[in-house]
Amino acid sequence: MARLFFALWPDAAARRALASLAGEVAGRSGGRAVGEDRLHLTLVFLGEVPRDRIPAARAAASGVAVPPFELSLDHIGSFARTGVAWAGVDPPPAELAGLHAALAGRLSEAGFGLEKRAFAAHLTLARRIARPVEGAAIAPIAWRVPEFALVQTQPGDGAYRTLERWALRGS
Ligand code: 2AM
Repeated sequence: MARLFFALWPDAAARRALASLAGEVAGRSGGRAVGEDRLHLTLVFLGEVPRDRIPAARAAASGVAVPPFELSLDHIGSFARTGVAWAGVDPPPAELAGLHAALAGRLSEAGFGLEKRAFAAHLTLARRIARPVEGAAIAPIAWRVPEFALVQTQPGDGAYRTLERWALRGS
């Protein structure tokens, strides 16, 4: 089995700004800041997938045709359920919602069981928080999204390994 998710990775400048915000938010909430190179926004979480199904996941992703777009995270908040603090955008830009819908739709058609919960676009800044983070606007942190990636969480050390990237492109 492989633990998989599809995600967007911020560019270097956005990652630096998000890492600084993560440190601040972690301090305030009593959580652990996510490391700079691990900061990402999950598009679709697949969870544990049999290895022989990875080609089907890759094929589903390769059919997604959504143009590149700019993503601007403009507020912070936290989820009590999972104990994470995050930066988010609500409502998500049409392109992000479209990318999520296209990818989730193709994966469903390919037989992957996905969460039915509505897509809550967020980038986790801190985990295991002790106190909630009150929702608040932040100076927007923006980057241009040229691609999305299929990522595996390695068993043991939890390292992220990118299996494949797909360039965004118009239909
Ligand atoms: P999180 O940041 O909100 O915890 C790798 O673990 C990525 O998959 C993380 O972005 C994580 O979201 C997400 N993830 C982990 N478990 C999940 C679940 N059960 N449902 C949705 N997303 C999940």
